[in-house]
Amino acid sequence: MIDITRRTFVISSLGLVGSSLLPRFVWAANGKPMPAKPLWTLPQNTSALAPREQLQFDFGWQFAFGNGEDPTKDFGFGFGQSDFSKTGTFKIATTEFNADGWRALHLPHDWAVELPFVHDDKGDEDDRMTSHGYKPLGRRYPATSVGWYRRVFDIPESDRGRRIWIEFDGVMRDIVVFVNGCFIGRHDDGYTSFRFDLTDFLNYGGKNVVVVRVDASFGDGWFYEGAGIYRHVWLTKMDAVHVRQWESVVRPTLHGDAATLELATVVDNDNAHPANASLEWTIVDAGGHTVAQATSPAQTIAPNASSDYRATVTVNNPTLWSLEEPHLYTAHVKVSVDGKLLDGERVPFGIRTAVFDSDRGFFLNGKPVKIQGTCNHQDHAGVGAALPDRLQAFRIGVLQGMGCNAVRTSHNMPTPEWVEACDRMGMLMMCETRQMSSNPSGMQQLDTMVKRYRNSPSIIIWSIGNEEFKLQKGELAPQGARIATAMVERCHELDPTRVVSAAVNGDNEQGVSDALDIIGFNYHIDYPDGFHKKHPKRAVYGSETSSAISTRGEYASDPSKNTVNSYDGVVEWGETPEQWWTYYGTREWLAGGFAWTGFDYRGEPTPYGWPSTSSQFGIVDLCGFPKDYYYYYKAWWRNEPSLHVFPHWNWQGKEGQDISVWAYTNLDEVELLLNGKSLGVKKVPHLGHVEWKVAYAPGVIEARGRRNGQVVLTERRETTGPAQKLRLSADRAEISADGQDVAILTVEALDDHGRLVPTANNKLAFRISGKGQLIGVGNGNPNCLESDKEPKRSLFHGLAQLIVQSTDETGQVLVEAVEEDATGRPLRSASLAIKTSKPASSAGRAG
Ligand code: GAL
Repeated sequence: MIDITRRTFVISSLGLVGSSLLPRFVWAANGKPMPAKPLWTLPQNTSALAPREQLQFDFGWQFAFGNGEDPTKDFGFGFGQSDFSKTGTFKIATTEFNADGWRALHLPHDWAVELPFVHDDKGDEDDRMTSHGYKPLGRRYPATSVGWYRRVFDIPESDRGRRIWIEFDGVMRDIVVFVNGCFIGRHDDGYTSFRFDLTDFLNYGGKNVVVVRVDASFGDGWFYEGAGIYRHVWLTKMDAVHVRQWESVVRPTLHGDAATLELATVVDNDNAHPANASLEWTIVDAGGHTVAQATSPAQTIAPNASSDYRATVTVNNPTLWSLEEPHLYTAHVKVSVDGKLLDGERVPFGIRTAVFDSDRGFFLNGKPVKIQGTCNHQDHAGVGAALPDRLQAFRIGVLQGMGCNAVRTSHNMPTPEWVEACDRMGMLMMCETRQMSSNPSGMQQLDTMVKRYRNSPSIIIWSIGNEEFKLQKGELAPQGARIATAMVERCHELDPTRVVSAAVNGDNEQGVSDALDIIGFNYHIDYPDGFHKKHPKRAVYGSETSSAISTRGEYASDPSKNTVNSYDGVVEWGETPEQWWTYYGTREWLAGGFAWTGFDYRGEPTPYGWPSTSSQFGIVDLCGFPKDYYYYYKAWWRNEPSLHVFPHWNWQGKEGQDISVWAYTNLDEVELLLNGKSLGVKKVPHLGHVEWKVAYAPGVIEARGRRNGQVVLTERRETTGPAQKLRLSADRAEISADGQDVAILTVEALDDHGRLVPTANNKLAFRISGKGQLIGVGNGNPNCLESDKEPKRSLFHGLAQLIVQSTDETGQVLVEAVEEDATGRPLRSASLAIKTSKPASSAGRAG
C-alpha cells in the first residue's frame, strides 16, 4: 500500500520456490567433483495446472533469411500489392510449401550473434551499427535483417473445443505470424510478451504450419538487442472456460505473525452458452504443504463474457521472502463448472514488506537494506540475446558473488527467467519498461510488464523509463509530466503495492519527475544532496551510477589498443566504484543505487569505437569473469573478510619501473611484501583502497590483510612462466538431459607450476562429443572479432568460456580444449566430461 502523505511506501508482495544464495559449483577436471544441485525444481516458467497444458514450442523449427528490400528473396512477401487481401493465401504457411534448405534449429535463437562483425566506416550514418555492436542489421543490410521461422505441428482431434494459444515471451522485432495459410497477427516491440488465439485456424486431427516473419531492421535501443525469436515460445491449450492470462493476483499484507492474502482473478467463458463457474485457491508453501485454501462461490458467466473472483485467506506464521531465504509460495488457482475441474494455473508469490523512507532509505521486512544494485542488459558471450534459462541463474550468481543485491532491467521488460531467477535466488529488481510514452503502444508495453510480473517478490520498483531528455525539461516538460502521470497512475491501478520511478538524468525538478513515487538520479552525483534538502519528504536512490570502465586484465589505458586501465577508468559523466559508493553508501536517507553495469554488453562500445564491439562498463566482462572493480564491491558489499591485490606480476621488460599495486579489502590494514621484503603497512580507509608504487622485480607480491592486528587473509600475485597446460572446469558436473540445460565451462592457461598465466592469449580449438553441443564461446575481450559460434577461441588474459548444452539423451558430453601448433599438431589439451541426467521434471512439448 502506498501512504502518499508520509512519502513512505509500504510494499508487500509476492514468489516461487526457495533456494538460498546460489552455490557456485566449480568442478575442476583434476579436482574433486562437487555435487550438482538442480536449480530449477519445477518445470520452468510453466504455470499450467491440469487439465490446462502449456507445451514447450521451442523445438523443431526451421529458419531461413528473407530480405528486407527484395520481395523475390523474401519468399514473395510483398511482391504484389494484395498479400493481405484474402484469408488463407499465404502458401509459405501451408504443408504445400517446400522448406528444403531451411536450417533446422531450436529456440531461443538470436541470428545477430551468428553474423560476422561489419565495420561500415560511414561516419554518422554508421551510428546504428555502432550502438548495436557492428552487426549487419538495419535497413542498409536487407539480406541479414529479416528472418523466417517455420514449424509444422500436430493438433489432435481431441483438442477440438479447447482454446489454443501460441505465446511468445519476446521476439526481436516487428513480427508477422501466419498459421495454415492465414494471417494471424503482428507485434512490433522486441521485449514484451504477446500471444495469439489460434483456435479458429487449426486443423484438428492433422498437420498445422506456423510461420513467423521477423524483421530486425529497426531497433528499440541504443545497445545490442539481437534478432529473432530469442525467448521461449509456448503452445497453451485450455478449456473454453479458463483463467485469463496474468489476471491472477496474490496480494499479501503482514499483520504481526500472520499474512492476509487478497486473491483475485478473472475467468473467461468463451463458450456460446453460460457457465456456472466456481473458483478455488490453494496456497502451497515451498515444501509443497497446503497452508491455506479458499473457495469463491459459483457465478454464472454469460457466453463470451468474463467474471471477477475474489477471496481472502490468512497464512499464519508465514516464512517471509528475503535476500537470505527467498521463500516462495504458490497459489493454485482452479476453475470448476458443476463440480468438474476445467482449468487452472500456478501463481508463485512471496510474502514480504518493502518500504522506501525519505529519511532512512529502503527496508525489506522491516530491516534496512542498502540497494547494492547493478544495471544490466540481457546479452551474454556466445549466445547474444538468446540465453538458456540456466545462464540467467548463472549471471545472478556472479552478481551475488560480489554482494550485488538488486538488478535494474535496463532498459526493457526482462525475460521471464531473469525475473524467475531473482525470485528464486533472492535478488531485488527494478523492472523497467522500454518506451516512456502514454501512447497505446507505450501503455500496452507497461501493462504487459506489470501484469506479467506483479506477483514477483523480487520486484520493488516499477520504472517507467530512462533518460527521456526531451520529456525531463524544456519545451516538452509539460507533456513529460502528463505522460509520466498517466503511466504512474496505470501502474498504481494494476499494482498498488509497489512504488513507481524512472531513471532521470537531470535535476529531477520538472517534467516526468513530479509524478514519480520515488526519485531516481542517473549520474550527477552532486544533485541528490541539494534535492534532498529541498524535498526532504521524497525518497531518493541512484537509478544509474558509476559508468566506470575497465578492460579485464589491462593496467594501462591505450587508445591504440582500445584498452582501459583497471584502476580508475571512468567516463567523464561517471564515477569510479569508490566515488559513487562513498557517496551513496554513507547517506542514510539514500536507498542505495544501481551501478552501470554489472555485465559488459555488446554494443555501445565505450569509450572506444571499432574494433571494440562491446561496452567496457561491466564490473564483470561479457562472460562473467570478474574485473578488478568486482573486488571493490565484494569488499564493501559483502560481510565476510575479503582481500584482492592487483595487478598481476608478469611485467617482463619493466624491471625497476614503478608499478601501481592496489588492494581492495574490508580489513583494517594491509602489508605488502615484494619477494619477502615488507614495503610497509597501510591503513584501509572506510570504503576506500590502499596503494603502493612498487619497483618491479620478478617474483611474488604478497598482501597480508589484518583485522585487530591479526593476519586474516593473504593474497599473492606471482610472476608465472609461459602457458604450458590447459585446465577446463565447469559450473556444474551434471546437467539435465533436456536439450536446454547448459554447463558453463572455463578454460584457463597454466604455467608449469599450475598458475594461471594472466597474459596468455593462446588460440584454442574445442571438440565436443557425446550427448551435448557447444552453443557459444567467449573470452570477455571487448576488442575480439572472433566468432561466438565456431568451436575455437583465443584466450583473453588466460581465460575463455564455453557454453555446452545437453541433448535429450542421458549420458555424458565430453569437451576437449586443444592448442595446436602451426601444422595442426596438438601442443597441449585438457578435457572434461559433464554428466547429463534425466531431468527431475520438465514441461511437456508440443508435437
Ligand atoms: C546512460 C544510459 C545508459 C548508457 C550509459 C553509459 O546515460 O542510460 O543506457 O548509455 O549512459 O554511460
